[in-house]
Amino acid sequence: MTEAKPGTAPQPIFRKDYRRPDYTIDRVDLRFELGENFTTVHASLAVRRMHDTPAGAPLVLDGENLVLKRVAIDGRELPADHYVAGPTSLTIADPGAAFTLTTVVEIRPQDNLELSGLYRSSGNFCTQCEAEGFRRITYFLDRPDVMARYSVVVEADRARYPVLLANGNRVETGELDGGRHFARWDDPFPKPCYLFALVAGDLRCHDGEFVTRSGRTVRLEIWVEPDNIDRCAHALRSLQAAMRWDEDTFGREYDLDIYMIVAVSDFNMGAMENKGLNIFNAKYVLARPDTATDDDYDGIESVIAHEYFHNWTGNRVTCRDWFQLTLKEGLTVFRDRLFSADMGSPAVARIGDVLALRTNQFAEDSGPMAHPIRPESYIEMNNFYTTTVYEKGAEVIGMMRTLLGAAGFRRGMDLYFERHDGQAVTCDDFRAALADANGVDLEQFGRWYSQVGTPVVRARGDYDAAARAYTLTLEQAPPRGRDGGELLHIPVAVGLLGPDGPLALRLSEETAASGDTRVLELRERSRSFRFEDVPAAPVASLLRGFSAPVELEVERSDADLARLMAADPDEFSRWDAGQELARRVLLRLAGDVEAGRELALDREFVAACARILGDERFDGSLKALALTLPNERLLGQQQQVVAVDALHAARQFAVRALARALREPLLAVYKATAPQGPYRIERAEVDRRKLRNLALGYLVALGEPDLIRLAVEQFELSDNMTDSEAALACLIDHGGPERDSALARFHARWHKDPLVLDKWFALQAVSTHPDTLDRVLALADHPDFNLLNPNRARSLLGAFGLRNQHQFHRQDGRGHALVADKVLALDPHNPQVAARLVAAFNPWRRFDAARQQSMRAQLERIAAQPGLSKSVREIVDRALAPA
Ligand code: TRP
Ligand code: ZN
Repeated sequence: MTEAKPGTAPQPIFRKDYRRPDYTIDRVDLRFELGENFTTVHASLAVRRMHDTPAGAPLVLDGENLVLKRVAIDGRELPADHYVAGPTSLTIADPGAAFTLTTVVEIRPQDNLELSGLYRSSGNFCTQCEAEGFRRITYFLDRPDVMARYSVVVEADRARYPVLLANGNRVETGELDGGRHFARWDDPFPKPCYLFALVAGDLRCHDGEFVTRSGRTVRLEIWVEPDNIDRCAHALRSLQAAMRWDEDTFGREYDLDIYMIVAVSDFNMGAMENKGLNIFNAKYVLARPDTATDDDYDGIESVIAHEYFHNWTGNRVTCRDWFQLTLKEGLTVFRDRLFSADMGSPAVARIGDVLALRTNQFAEDSGPMAHPIRPESYIEMNNFYTTTVYEKGAEVIGMMRTLLGAAGFRRGMDLYFERHDGQAVTCDDFRAALADANGVDLEQFGRWYSQVGTPVVRARGDYDAAARAYTLTLEQAPPRGRDGGELLHIPVAVGLLGPDGPLALRLSEETAASGDTRVLELRERSRSFRFEDVPAAPVASLLRGFSAPVELEVERSDADLARLMAADPDEFSRWDAGQELARRVLLRLAGDVEAGRELALDREFVAACARILGDERFDGSLKALALTLPNERLLGQQQQVVAVDALHAARQFAVRALARALREPLLAVYKATAPQGPYRIERAEVDRRKLRNLALGYLVALGEPDLIRLAVEQFELSDNMTDSEAALACLIDHGGPERDSALARFHARWHKDPLVLDKWFALQAVSTHPDTLDRVLALADHPDFNLLNPNRARSLLGAFGLRNQHQFHRQDGRGHALVADKVLALDPHNPQVAARLVAAFNPWRRFDAARQQSMRAQLERIAAQPGLSKSVREIVDRALAPA
């Protein structure tokens, strides 16, 4: 556990304080004796003093929770007065210029509930070293700018642990005394220690191969617990598709002869890109039609691709220090998004990403954890694997691609790899490669790496009928509630809509164009763009494809939005206009709720929704996205003070009113989209299911017995998890005996299947039903609930605290108390996951006085807990710090 000593507040680390290491490590030889009670780790490190390090400088290695058994230099035991083994370090005075350091330590993987370092999951051994877990395995220079070649011997009991894996190539295996065996793995590529991995257990392999474009055959292995061997096919196909795509799109070929993926049930995050040996949360590997939804299939495809893409963006070229995390994460998210867009529908993919960005990242950016994509300081690095570093980081890469064009971006990527293969580099190095390859200046653009908060772009249009000219004025402003800040370089993609559809654009200056879209570059506080030959007053379609992660302020009538919704040729923008209209409608309704006025759903809005339902240009997935009303968290962001109950009442009212108004067409859609055969995971079928389940959701909301019957039947008859889960969700929101019997059936069928049971918990935790809090309380005591399993903890508590605004922020404060209790219970065991959960309190200042008071009291209670981890401490201290 990473507990601060009482009285010593953990100190932040600053980006500006970066220094090169005094020593480096070129070779690492490890031998693991895996045991039931403890594991012994023998390490021999070839250490070298850096040339500008003064002779005599001490060598300070990181180490945590290690029991030191032996330390030797060049084979000679080190006298006790030559080293100091402290709680987080091993310091060796004056070790020399080049030497082999040998240490032997004992560790206790079976007690490691933090799931960082070497730990056990389902009886198997596995590792997680990013960001700073390797120091919990052996003494080391645990920083990404120390890159070494590794040779690893794993020894274990043969019967219990028949499979022994580590990074690179298996070069030797053999038998040992006492029923034990071993395997030796060599990784030819130098790597930072955060990419080290080891797995030992009773696992089965689903294998395949991939022939690279240069003709090498790579062996692909997906390792899972024996029961899961029939759920690996989609992961393998996704891996093969990702390998092909990275060759075709970026010219990147895989470099080892084997690529392994291991699925584990206890994992703090999604997956980890360890060189040649990815370790995955089982959630992002395992899929079978009856256990995984269409969204799960998509999630697997994108996470498999993400970790694969890291082989070049992260592993071959890595980060100099952890402040540069977005160098690999923003870029790799951007790459996996390009891939997903190519594999499916670009518009659907983009809408999903933007929705998530606005819901989660914009909220982070306006709260106490706001930070630049390249943070300036941190106390616990694990707290900075954030939606800002990942998703906003990906947006920043995307803006550079928009500015350079696809070909220019590719040139920049090529130069980046050419310059930096095998190195640990910075975000500035990346930007320099893009700029140099294209002969452009990205200096001002670089400010996006330091910028905090969501910038505002204001737009104003003036039409001059006599001159047939339209002037669009764009202005940038600092994020709401922040002042100053430097001027950013912002690409704003625009199109103009005339009375008869999109207009061909004639601009008085050169801009990048594609089709009827122009990319305007805003670098000044304010700038006007003049469009010529505009026959009539147009409606501007702004920020197409969400070309920059900003908040757009523009005066538009509801009628303008309805026109964009109907006629904008850009699918993303049609969706966005619809969401903006829905947002207005819902916020007005919430105002009516608060004022006690009678509620009525805007007729124009209903008409626009009816048109979408019948619109041939929209596929089923797009219709479902367009007809899903903005969620309550998103709506709350638009209010001075989040009106929790009024927003909920308004949204619930709107759902029912829309369902009532569109009852017949929705029913027709539901009938017309019935399955015609067994489940197939293909685009047209996914679209069909999305639309059908959207219709079902609205219909069940009407509460009519016949319509509830539809959900019950779908739940009972469907052959796949997508349709079962959707029906179950409807029934849970509806309540009543149908809910209880469906939940009981689902539990009886799936209680031995952890990933499916997670859905059972999560669906109940996100429910709109008024009794949700009491049910979540009861579920926290359910025999199948396990706070120590991260997926299970997230499925109940994360879903409740981070996604169910209305129930978590109950007026009576019981939602707050529940989550705070669990944070305190979890923190001593798994501070990383506890820190994610406590972030539910971050937006506390956005609520009314009573709710503020309630959340603040919980934050103070947590802060007062003796021995609180530095992970949770950092989040809570930031939340409570004066705004
Ligand atoms: N680098 C991983 C990824 O995004 C994620 C990761 C970072 C991680 N830290 C972790 C995974 C800790 C598990 C535990 O691909
Ligand atoms: Zn990543």
